[in-house]
Amino acid sequence: MATPIPNRLLFIDGEWREPIRKNRIPIVNPATEEIIGNIPAATAEDVDIAVEAARKALSRNGGKDWASATGAHRAKYLRAIAAKITERKSELAKLEAIDSGKPLEEAVWDIDDVSGCFEYHAELAEALDSKQKTPISLPMEAFKCHVLREPLGVIGLITPWNYPLLMATWKVAPVLAAGCTAVLKPSELASITCLELGEVCKEVGLPPGVLNILTGLGPEAGASLASHPHVDKIAFTGSSATGTKIMTAAAPLVKPVTLELGGKSPIVVFEDVDLDKAAEWSLFGCFWTNGQICSATSRLLVHESIASEFLDKLVNWCKNIKISDPLEEGCRLGPVVSGGQYEKVMKFISTAKDEGATILCGGEHPRHLKKGYFIEPAIITDIKTSMQIWREEVFGPVLCVKTFTTEDEAIELANDTHYGLAAAVLSQDLERCERMTKAFQAGIVWVNCSQPCFSQAPWGGKKRSGFGRELGEGGLDNYLNVKQVTQYVSDDPWGWYKSPSNL
Ligand code: NAI
Ligand code: MG
Repeated sequence: MATPIPNRLLFIDGEWREPIRKNRIPIVNPATEEIIGNIPAATAEDVDIAVEAARKALSRNGGKDWASATGAHRAKYLRAIAAKITERKSELAKLEAIDSGKPLEEAVWDIDDVSGCFEYHAELAEALDSKQKTPISLPMEAFKCHVLREPLGVIGLITPWNYPLLMATWKVAPVLAAGCTAVLKPSELASITCLELGEVCKEVGLPPGVLNILTGLGPEAGASLASHPHVDKIAFTGSSATGTKIMTAAAPLVKPVTLELGGKSPIVVFEDVDLDKAAEWSLFGCFWTNGQICSATSRLLVHESIASEFLDKLVNWCKNIKISDPLEEGCRLGPVVSGGQYEKVMKFISTAKDEGATILCGGEHPRHLKKGYFIEPAIITDIKTSMQIWREEVFGPVLCVKTFTTEDEAIELANDTHYGLAAAVLSQDLERCERMTKAFQAGIVWVNCSQPCFSQAPWGGKKRSGFGRELGEGGLDNYLNVKQVTQYVSDDPWGWYKSPSNL
């Protein structure tokens, strides 16, 4: 049975509201290229209203309803949201698969992760209560000191289309746990499930204005949110180019930003691996989410002594990847998200060819599928490090391969990138893995795997992959103002100036 696409308005101040200019953006199913619905298009006027609603929600009832309530109070909402999402899991997963093109079974994982992430942040919200007023010992007895962790304020959240609801949750859950309020601007290419989060918030009775959800175009809704004077911080996940624009928009107001940007992450395969296991991790590391993941280990470095056998394995494993409509049973690779991304990825592949690389397999529209933005997973060899395909983020199912002979050479090739999000090493020699782990210039290292991600562990990159860490206990700090409180407790006068009464 076809999954109905809900028809929604903007979620502002706890209600569904028509965008001021009444514009809407079509939703295209990337597997069929059909328009299957539409989403509201917010503009600067709607952003103003939503930011105002978020500001009011911070201070309503003197802050007691939200910002200065206990973490335990807010945790109840987080748990209620998690439960509602679990209740609607199969519907949300289907919507995610139809909207973004990711295989349904991946989308189910995502929705499980969404619930798990809200649950985890409920725990962090509760733990926050016990971290308040922690005393700090000082070297002078005349003073006492403690620290308060307070919500930072109104947060602007701008998120991408590759994990629509999960990337939003990585920001929304800690925002709510910290006691902040927010305006979420999901990607115009996949917003359906984020709008459903609005309905979930309504159902659990989240105080109005705590979370506002505005769908719309990046340069309109996104840009006005990034530069809004009443937004205290921007948290962004997306392309490096847009990240630069957001940082620029935030700079004049000295508005803090956290940026989770692109990557061109390496996976280093040594000669002592089990070839089949390593082949599967290499493909999973690059091709899941249809190759559209910032942490994709899209540069494969394989030891020269096993390269030819390993490449044969890779090609064989690759041929076994089921490419189909994301809703079809067993699908392992769906279409890329949009016509624009399809053209972009195809251009990367043709430029690679023009520059002299070899397309070992894939890289074409699969013959068995007439419609849809499908691209057969591509493995590319004969690569020079100066080639575009080696240097730039493709964000599609494209794996580049180079060989190395020594560990030092592997490290040099691995780190030869502007990016620094993730890196993976596959080897049975754990000491070698440890040396590689230390040498990688990255925020995330996978040993004998690639991509697994847990809410409990910090996530983020260095170099041009951005800065700041989401998830883990520290992820909450993104949304907290740390306030030191120092009190003079001595009965003695301070005694720095000469007292006039002693004259
Ligand atoms: P994008 O970075 O432009 O989009 C991400 C979010 O930013 C969306 O919500 C978008 O509406 C918003 N946005 C766009 N322009 C904005 C602006 N001027 N001010 C404020 N917000 C703005 O990514 P896009 O165009 O969808 O994809 C292009 C490329 O970005 C991909 O090919 C890929 O290389 C990269 N990308 C990386 C992601 C990651 O997770 N690192 C996720 C999505 C895309
Ligand atoms: Mg879509």
